[in-house]
Amino acid sequence: MAEPSPASPPRTNETDEATAQPAGSSTAAAILPASHWESVCYLTPHRGYRSSFCSPDWRLAKHGSAFCVQIALEPEGDDADSGYNDVLSSTASLASSILHYRTVHGRTYHASIGNADAWEPNDDMHAESMDIHHHMSTLMLGDKLFLAPIGPNPKRVLDIGTGTGIWAIDFADAYPGTEVIGTDLSPMQPAWVPPNVKWELDDANLDWTWGDNTMDFIHARMLVGNIVDWRKFYRDAFRCCKPGGWMESHEASLLWRSDVGIREDSAMGQWGHVFQEAGRKIGRTFRLVDDELQQKYMAEAGFVDIVVKDIKCPSGDWPKDEKQKELGLFARLALLSDLNGYILHIWGSVMGWTPEEIAVYAAHMRRELSDPKIQPWFLRRVVYGRKPETS
Ligand SMILES: C[S@@+](CC[C@H](N)C(=O)[O-])C[C@H]1O[C@@H](n2cnc3c(N)ncnc32)[C@H](O)[C@@H]1O
Repeated sequence: MAEPSPASPPRTNETDEATAQPAGSSTAAAILPASHWESVCYLTPHRGYRSSFCSPDWRLAKHGSAFCVQIALEPEGDDADSGYNDVLSSTASLASSILHYRTVHGRTYHASIGNADAWEPNDDMHAESMDIHHHMSTLMLGDKLFLAPIGPNPKRVLDIGTGTGIWAIDFADAYPGTEVIGTDLSPMQPAWVPPNVKWELDDANLDWTWGDNTMDFIHARMLVGNIVDWRKFYRDAFRCCKPGGWMESHEASLLWRSDVGIREDSAMGQWGHVFQEAGRKIGRTFRLVDDELQQKYMAEAGFVDIVVKDIKCPSGDWPKDEKQKELGLFARLALLSDLNGYILHIWGSVMGWTPEEIAVYAAHMRRELSDPKIQPWFLRRVVYGRKPETS
């Protein structure tokens, strides 16, 4: 694939990041009603979507009561295997209630506490998707973990929203002399890790608890839809970065693109609109890349020497180039390995779709993701910048 030259995403003049709309149209207006997907049926009659396309958790949902009202808090102490007991006492920003999960039709999510309201599940099925996503992300960077010129001897590195911790673990293996801190709302990281990695539970929406000028490198990847105030996020990162240290932010646009065109009324065409409208409703923008907020807010926070790298990431095996094909296969696999996990909360709890409507939409999405004619890709943006020595 040629050097990325992604089409310019729609711009907005809005300053409120959570309520920003694409230029010239409202995201709400662009969303087709859930009933649309019932009427557009590509499935062969003898298969029927109800049995062929539903995952086990969906079958569970069919027999449950109303969607997304069944909230069960697990008893405390479920973290016995997660290696978190030691750090709980030293983590100032969250109470022990952090270990409460909400369970929605067999999937677990982090409980909504304070400003924390993760939209992705934190269970094993989603962890597998995150790990495939990590592999895809390194392929995208040419087998690298990051792009910033951090030098050979960073002393302290922070990974915000570390997820399964796979990036932090890989970084710690590559830099055995570096102390690597992976932080997340959810204790979903493994206990057996390199000795130079530690996990901390923290809500990145609260004031960061790490000291001023303490980190050589701060990394944050795919937190879109989780952060209430991205200006504050980058300001906190700036404060915690050492003078001369680096911040690197990786995020993606939720708008699918294709050089042959994505139909607005297709499942892929609707995907980004639904996410963006949901982001408006929950007050956490999904338009970070589309509105070019990473570079804007990093510059406002004080970072200099900012580099913006746009990467065109294919999904599927349609690229002719072998490396791009491999990237595309992993990108599609990351999504298909837990499509339900990516959409259940947003489509159901936030947008109010029924499980049946979500299942039909998901079936369309799966079919389109496997259609070689569509040739979809999405835009990943990596932005890094340095804290000046004199700040
Ligand atoms: C898409 S995953 C990305 C995981 C990891 N950065 C990666 O790229 O592999 C988003 C992660 O952010 C975490 N998260 C969501 N809201 C958060 C918050 N307010 N503070 C800290 N972590 C948060 C979620 O628990 C989840 O693990």
